[in-house]
Amino acid sequence: MTNGLGRRAVLASACGIACGAALTGCAGYGPGRVTAEPVAAGTPLAATADVPVGGGVILADQDTVLTQPVEGEFKAFTATCTHQGCVVATVTDTINCTCHGSVYALADGSVVSGPAPSPLAEKAITVAGGSIALA
Ligand code: FES
Repeated sequence: MTNGLGRRAVLASACGIACGAALTGCAGYGPGRVTAEPVAAGTPLAATADVPVGGGVILADQDTVLTQPVEGEFKAFTATCTHQGCVVATVTDTINCTCHGSVYALADGSVVSGPAPSPLAEKAITVAGGSIALA
């Protein structure tokens, strides 16, 4: 009887780990998901020189994508895709989520093509002395 309980305990434990991992993945915390802590206002994000004109950079650990749609105009958006919460993966002449193919505009974070249901949320920034910071 003791052996039976021990066996059930081991099976329950193994299922707890495996099932927990499976549920965690389904709940939206798998690879590529945002786990960033909020960044305080005034915290420098990047140098303006690090953000290409007509492109951008992804700061995944700060849940932010910085873009420079035209020279001297900088924008910041959340890096969390509005479809299912992946971190956007690349910035070309658009902001791209490779999880399911959503594409966003550099200038305003609007959806260029889905399945994303809504734009990337814009973040307020300040640009001074060659540095970009959250406002
Ligand atoms: S999570 Fe980005 S396209 Fe699905």
